[in-house]
Amino acid sequence: MKFLIINGPNLNLLGRREPDIYGNESLQDIEKWLDNVLGQNNDSIEWFQSNHEGEIIDRLHFSIGRTDGIIINPGALTHYSYSIRDAISSIDTPTVEVHLSDINNREEFRKLSVLEDVCVAQISGMGKEGYLKALNTLQRICSGIEP
Ligand code: DQA
Repeated sequence: MKFLIINGPNLNLLGRREPDIYGNESLQDIEKWLDNVLGQNNDSIEWFQSNHEGEIIDRLHFSIGRTDGIIINPGALTHYSYSIRDAISSIDTPTVEVHLSDINNREEFRKLSVLEDVCVAQISGMGKEGYLKALNTLQRICSGIEP
């Protein structure tokens, strides 16, 4: 199966960005960690990071017919991007929303995700393990184990 992992604005600064909230590992460290955990798995995983809303929308469109499932950590776009919401609704590919931090236990504005109800699941506050949990969720959905 083919999976796409999208990370949005400021996630390229993981490791140096507010480490008390997001940890000391870079996005590349998390990519390597997930690769190692998965080992000799036949799934293909592509990572994409952008600080630009339009580029994320273009990447979502480009995934049509090419990707079985999507994991997205949209960064702050989570809280206000109706365009990303519409893109996720339009492409009809199961998408899991991931947040490293627990968005329900931070500032008020982070509690609202405008994407939550167009995604098949939201995983928040598990750090990098959230990406693995999201992948396992998509593997189950794509193999018909979960609706
Ligand atoms: C985040 C949470 C968002 O509120 C924040 O804007 C981010 C990262 C997370 O992974 O915890 O950039 O999505």
